[in-house]
Amino acid sequence: MNMPKLIAGNWKMNGLAAESRARVEALAALAEGRPLPRAEIVLCPPFTLIQQTVGVLKGAFSLITCGGQDCHASPSGAFTGNISAPMLKDLGCEYVILGHSERRQLHGETSAQVAAKAVAAHAAGLAAIICVGETEAERGAGKAEEVVLAQLSDSIPSGATPGNTVIAYEPVWAIGTGKVASLDDIAAMHAVIRAKMGVPTRLLYGGSVKGNNAAEILSIANVDGVLVGGASLNPEEFWTIAQGA
Ligand code: PGA
Repeated sequence: MNMPKLIAGNWKMNGLAAESRARVEALAALAEGRPLPRAEIVLCPPFTLIQQTVGVLKGAFSLITCGGQDCHASPSGAFTGNISAPMLKDLGCEYVILGHSERRQLHGETSAQVAAKAVAAHAAGLAAIICVGETEAERGAGKAEEVVLAQLSDSIPSGATPGNTVIAYEPVWAIGTGKVASLDDIAAMHAVIRAKMGVPTRLLYGGSVKGNNAAEILSIANVDGVLVGGASLNPEEFWTIAQGA
């Protein structure tokens, strides 16, 4: 694996302008003058904060990049309320999260729709962070691998390459619950995903990653980064997670 580990922060629907500016400035201050973590750091704020976040990072710490949390499959058109991949690129984004379980569950997003969005992201020059993961019931029924493999097959478009696609394995039951998957379960699922995706594709783990568990998760074989929700809202904790790389 030659690519650096990827530490991605998903702010979800959190933050108004002033507190969010302070959060990014605090992160930049933590990074300043310190040895860089051997990782690429991406912040994915809500759409409303992307422009401001890109601006603060440009001025203060250009090695942290920005991503969106979703995009539409079309580049433009009559889609009230949606945001397109070229719009994200235009704002300075390098990444977009697609198929997060909250989109799949709360917005009924299908894997086919995720694949179409990934095509749009690639066409706009964005790398797609495609999320997959089983529910607690699916794991309980012994179907976790089957579910994840089906989501991978249907969510990843044919033009995916290790340069334009990152996979995030996020067991739904571990998101925002404080219940982290066991190291053995993460290793087992990442081995399955690695076998499907091939070597250079980066595979992230997500689900209750915190400052106190990131280093051990990041040291598991085939874990090439983490997708962090709640803990990415705290600059000190997010920086500690990045140091775990
Ligand atoms: P969490 O969220 O870190 O708050 O569990 C992860 C995610 O939803 O990407």
